[in-house]
Amino acid sequence: MTAVAAEEAAPEHRTVVLSTFADAKDAYRSKDLRQSLYDEGEVVMADVLVNLHGEEHRSRRRVENRMFRREVFERYERDLFPAVTDATIAPYVAAGRVDLVHLGHELMLNLAALTAGVDRPEGTAEETERLYAYMMSFIEGATLAHSTKDKAVQRGVIAQALDDWDAEFLAPSIARRRDLLAREAAGEDVEVPRDVLATLLRHADELTLAPEVIRREVAFFLLAGAHTSATAFVRAIDHILGWIDEHPEDAAAAVDDPLFVQRCIHETVRLNPSSPTGRRRALAPVSLRSGIDIPEGATVVIDLQAVNRDVTLFGADAADFNPRRTLPPGVAPFGLSFAAGMHVCIGQDLAAGVVQRADTDPGSHLFGLVTGAVQQMFAAGTRRDPDNPPRRDAATARPYWGSYPVLLG
Ligand code: HEM
Repeated sequence: MTAVAAEEAAPEHRTVVLSTFADAKDAYRSKDLRQSLYDEGEVVMADVLVNLHGEEHRSRRRVENRMFRREVFERYERDLFPAVTDATIAPYVAAGRVDLVHLGHELMLNLAALTAGVDRPEGTAEETERLYAYMMSFIEGATLAHSTKDKAVQRGVIAQALDDWDAEFLAPSIARRRDLLAREAAGEDVEVPRDVLATLLRHADELTLAPEVIRREVAFFLLAGAHTSATAFVRAIDHILGWIDEHPEDAAAAVDDPLFVQRCIHETVRLNPSSPTGRRRALAPVSLRSGIDIPEGATVVIDLQAVNRDVTLFGADAADFNPRRTLPPGVAPFGLSFAAGMHVCIGQDLAAGVVQRADTDPGSHLFGLVTGAVQQMFAAGTRRDPDNPPRRDAATARPYWGSYPVLLG
C-alpha cells in the first residue's frame, strides 16, 4: 500500500507516501521527521507551536500544556461553553433558520477566543464581526497552499490583517493580562484567565518570545481552535442528519444521549481529518519498522484519508459513517485525525472529549466542545431546509461546505 513516488528523483526531491496506520504512527513519532505541512502558510504559521521542532517545540509545548489540563477543560465544558453556545445560537433559533457554515465559525470563534485569550471588551456584534473577519483571514493564511486565489496578493492582505488585529484586539488583551498578573503577584485576589495568552505571559521567563511570535502564536490558536472545530461541527451535523434518515430510531439520541453524539463526532473526525494529509521532511535518513527507508531531505506525506479508512482496522464499512461501529484495541475512534507523537493535537480533549470506555460514567465524562455544540443544535430542532440545499466551497481545493442552510425550532 506504500507508494514511493518519483523513485528516480534525487533523494531530497523524493516523496514517500504512507498509507498504513502503523507507518503513519511510526512517522509521527520519528524525531528526524520535521513538520512541513505549513511551509506556504508562514505569514501566520512561522514559529508557531505546530511548526517548531526539537527542544524549541518541547519547551513551548511544556509551557502551553499547563493550560491544556483536565480541570481547565472541565471549567470550559461545564461552566463557560454552554452559555456562550446558547447566546450564539439564540438569535438564529428565534429566526428559525441558520447557515451552519457561518454559525460554525461564529460559534467556534467565540469559544476559541476564550481559550486563546482574545478579549472583546465592547461585547458588540460589530466587534465580533471584526474579529471574525480577522480569524477568516488567518485561516486563509494558514491554508494558503490550497488557496485558488493569487497567493502573493493574499500574503500581503493577511500580513496587514495581523497588524490591524494586533492593534485592535491583541495589544489590549496583553495589557489586561499583564495588569492582572502584576496584581496577583502583589498578593491581590484577582482571577487571571486560564488561556493561552495568559499562560505565555505568566511563563515569559521560561520562553523568550519576540512580540511578533506571541502575536502569531495567539492568532494560530484562534484559527486552530476555531477552524477545525467549525468544520467538524458542520460535517458532524451533515453526517448525523444522514444517519437519522437511515436510522430514525436514533433521532432522540442526537438530542439526549451525549455519548452517542460524541461517537458521531469521533466518527466524523475519522472520516474528515482537518487536513487530509500530514506532511514531514526528513532531517536525516529514517527507517520505519515496516522496512520503508526514507532518504534525508525527502518529503513524507501521511495519507490520513487512507489510514483512517483502513478496512483491516475499521471493518468492511470503513468508508461509511457508523457511530455504532466496534473498534479493535489500541485504535482510537477518530483514527489518526489528531496526529500522534510530538505534535499530537493539544486541543484534542477540549474539542472531542475523552475516548469512551465500557465503564464510562456520563456524569463525570468530558465530551468536548464540538459534542456539546452539536447536541445543542439538535436540541434546537436542526433539520434540513428542503428549499435550500447545501453547497460545496469553490474557493479552496479542499472538500469544505460553502453553505449549509438548516431550519431550527
Ligand atoms: C476537531 C478538532 C480538531 C482537529 C481534527 C485537530 C487536528 C490536529 C492535528 C491533525 C494536529 C497535528 C498537525 C500535524 O502534526 O501536522 C493538531 C495540532 C494542534 N492542534 Fe488541533 N485539532 C482540533 C482542535 C483543536 C483545538 C480546539 C485547538 C486549540 C484549542 C487545537 C490546537 C492545536 C495545536 C496548538 C496543535 C499543535 C500541537 C503541537 O505542535 O505540539 N486543535 N491538531
